[in-house]
Amino acid sequence: MCGIVGYLGKREAFPILIKGLRRLEYRGYDSAGVALINEAGGLNVYKTKGKVDNLVEYTSDKDKTGTIGIAHTRWATHGEPSAVNAHPHYSQSHNLAIIHNGIIENYADLKGKLIEKGVEFKSDTDTEVVVQLVEYIMNKKQLDLLTAVQVALYQVIGAYAIAIIDKRDPLQIIAARKQSPLVVGIGDGEFFLGSDASPIIEYTDKVVYLEDGNIAVLRLDKNRSENSGMELKVVSILGEEQELTVKKVDIDLGQIEKGGYPHFMLKEIFEQPECLTNCMRGRINVEADHVTLSALIDYRRQLLSAKRVLIVACGTSWHAGLIGKQLIESFCRIPVEVEYASEFRYRNPVVTKDDVVIAISQSGETADTLAAIQLAKERGAFIYGICNAIGSSIPRATDTGTYIHVGPEIGVASTKAFTGQVTVLTMFALALAEAKGTMARDEYIKVVKGLSEVPELIREVLKSNEKVADLARTFTYAHNFLYLGRGFSYPVALEGALKLKEISYIHAEGYPAAEMKHGPIALIDSDMPVVVIATHNTMYEKVLSNIQEIKARKGRVIALVTKGDDKIAKIADEVIELPDVQECLEPLVATVPLQLLSYYVAVCKGKDVDQPRNLAKSVTVE
Ligand code: G6P
Repeated sequence: MCGIVGYLGKREAFPILIKGLRRLEYRGYDSAGVALINEAGGLNVYKTKGKVDNLVEYTSDKDKTGTIGIAHTRWATHGEPSAVNAHPHYSQSHNLAIIHNGIIENYADLKGKLIEKGVEFKSDTDTEVVVQLVEYIMNKKQLDLLTAVQVALYQVIGAYAIAIIDKRDPLQIIAARKQSPLVVGIGDGEFFLGSDASPIIEYTDKVVYLEDGNIAVLRLDKNRSENSGMELKVVSILGEEQELTVKKVDIDLGQIEKGGYPHFMLKEIFEQPECLTNCMRGRINVEADHVTLSALIDYRRQLLSAKRVLIVACGTSWHAGLIGKQLIESFCRIPVEVEYASEFRYRNPVVTKDDVVIAISQSGETADTLAAIQLAKERGAFIYGICNAIGSSIPRATDTGTYIHVGPEIGVASTKAFTGQVTVLTMFALALAEAKGTMARDEYIKVVKGLSEVPELIREVLKSNEKVADLARTFTYAHNFLYLGRGFSYPVALEGALKLKEISYIHAEGYPAAEMKHGPIALIDSDMPVVVIATHNTMYEKVLSNIQEIKARKGRVIALVTKGDDKIAKIADEVIELPDVQECLEPLVATVPLQLLSYYVAVCKGKDVDQPRNLAKSVTVE
């Protein structure tokens, strides 16, 4: 939610900041802005409504010089998306500029007090209050910027990642975080700052992930030559110096670029075979018929003694959790509950030390999921994380976990992360079942082998790309879609519907196929496309009857069937074939054509596939 970039060094900051904003645009894109201190000591702030492209156009004839700057791409919380509410925000004197990601909960209170003291506000944002407060404290108490930031943050309630610059001191950026991510990149005589490492990796692989409650001072001393005159200091809000751990980031640039595809989403759909191979690498050994997850070796006792598993997640990750429930219950015979993290955290749930909580999150930063983890921890549960973003907040808050290793996901609509999460959940359920002895050996071997073949099966499904693209054109007229599935296919139906509404803005609902008769059937007429996952599994005959019911009401059926099925082909309007796969692995294969369907419908409708309106990839506000 909101992207933050900063640069302090010897190069012109503007191009680096703009490139960084483009990499972070997935975090929000309703306005963008930049602040630069030029050679003459002027602090220039430029901001526009809309995407980074608008900012570039707007600044074409402006002074963009300066070797220090901060920049921001916004996902609005307080104040409508507009140039005035865009970041950076000046302080009243225009000496300071700030960018912020998060929410300041007591901003109204602080703002009221500052107005009483004569401070004038320009925007409706919660952010402006921080920079005004910092300046007020600096002036009133004659404090330096760092101390004023400490004093101000002590009064601030909420979540934030901020960066502040002062035109009187063009060799310093002050950055701070609480519940919103922030990474400092250390180059040769230059510092970078980012909400994640993606704007940094092009320049350096040395990073420091700031911890919650820490303030970083990025400083250059042009008169000092040792260590290129760089000084990075991290302190707590109370001023205690903190230890620094410099880490090496292991992301290659190709992973965060489109690589010839028109959109990140399409690239990420097509990457899935390779991503899932990476996800299973070193974990599945087909020759030995074995799954090894280090978490289950290191924390065997805690995981094996679970009396119940609670899965907490949001959005697409929650759908992966629904599949995880079926896998764990059927392989391990432990009861599993799946909760929306946002509901779980506020409803005083029953959680005990006998529970294992699985937190699933692509970004590793979702505020509700983090809060659910904290609550479960306080009640003594053991926390296992399934995340993609390495070093993000959720993996750091959990007791152990497994990374899905599918590489950075940039398209806002999650695709490869979902199949990666389901792959890890399958491996987790298998490994736990083996350790508990709850699964027959031949069944275990069959699933391990089947899982290892999934990347190849997805490659086969991707061959239907052209067909799905054609089919999508036929259905762009629709205002509503229904998605139906049963058993393992029900969460797939939910995920298919979510993908469609996220990027094409067509209303879509996922339903368990048998529930159709209790309501959704009333919606069916000749305009209503119904996507039915009707593969050859234990539910086949029942789903076939559902298709008959839809056709009897003139609904238009798009059926996902097992290759060679001619029964459904005769009654459905459109058929997409899937390779034959074990029922428990079907979600990994059946999701892919639904991702393609939503992608092509959105493309046909001319929608912004990678950056759909109102959404953001990383939701760091509750
Ligand atoms: C946002 C994203 C979704 C994602 C959800 C949960 O809404 O747009 O794609 O599924 O957050 O995110 P997480 O990073 O926790 O998986």
